Amino acid sequence: MPAILVHGGAGPTSPDDDVAAAEAGCQSAAKAGHAVLSEGGSALDAVEAAVRALEDDPHFNAGTGSVLNAEGVIEMDASLMDGTTLSAGAVAGVRTVANPISLARAVMERSPHVLLAGPGADAFARRRGFPEVDPQSLVTPRARRRFEARRQDTHGTVGAVAVDAQSRLAAATSTGGTNGKLPGRVGDTPLIGCGTCADSRLGAASATGVGEYIIRLTLTRRLLDLLDRGQAPGVALDACLAEVVRLGGEAGLILALPDGRLAWARSTARMPVSWVTSSGQAGAAFSGPRAVLLP
Ligand code: GLY
Ligand code: GLY
Repeated sequence: MPAILVHGGAGPTSPDDDVAAAEAGCQSAAKAGHAVLSEGGSALDAVEAAVRALEDDPHFNAGTGSVLNAEGVIEMDASLMDGTTLSAGAVAGVRTVANPISLARAVMERSPHVLLAGPGADAFARRRGFPEVDPQSLVTPRARRRFEARRQDTHGTVGAVAVDAQSRLAAATSTGGTNGKLPGRVGDTPLIGCGTCADSRLGAASATGVGEYIIRLTLTRRLLDLLDRGQAPGVALDACLAEVVRLGGEAGLILALPDGRLAWARSTARMPVSWVTSSGQAGAAFSGPRAVLLP
């Protein structure tokens, strides 16, 4: 039976957190992804559908609602990976598409490349028929307020991991990056093995947190390597987060396993998550236990 788990970004709790909206947004994304799986769709289709729902929800730092860079402009990163073929696609620093995750998929399936960045990625979007959106239309009042306050506690990267009825795994991640980042800054999210990694023999993982730490640790690849060496999922997740904390960073990880189990862990106070397990149990959490393995 298929299963899916989504996240809406690890971070500290903040006064303008809307816990109910974050949980509800994650729940509808998990539901959208699960609907794809229930209809016999692939794990890749499911994670794309779930992340699109989160990109369209203005409460998250991805797609609509992305944070602004130091020049007050949105630059979005996204990637996804098919754990069965090890195909991957990613975009970095895109400005004019509403759903960067679908552009990442187009890079994977409709170009010979894995990662396209900046104006070249936006131009590729036009050639592949993605409507050009006015970058201002993605800017929410909340993102504007956070930019003006130079808030460092803005999180809300989104991600999804899934296993389908044929035991195929996939992972997807999308973000606006960090508030006030330098123009051109690329985080972990579009980097395969950092923000996103999937291998149907081992697991599918999506990371959130401060990209500069996640990149240096190649965090999702590290997690799958620990599983490959026989570590239990909870132990492997803890070990990865301990490394992030040792470097002075913070992060959260979600994981789907080939047998359909789902797990997450975070070093932060919050990380909204929602899931539908392989036995059909649905749920959501915002804070609560920092590490969970669902059957
Ligand atoms: N730094 C943004 C996030 O991962 O939530
Ligand atoms: N984790 C998202 C970022 O740092 O951009």
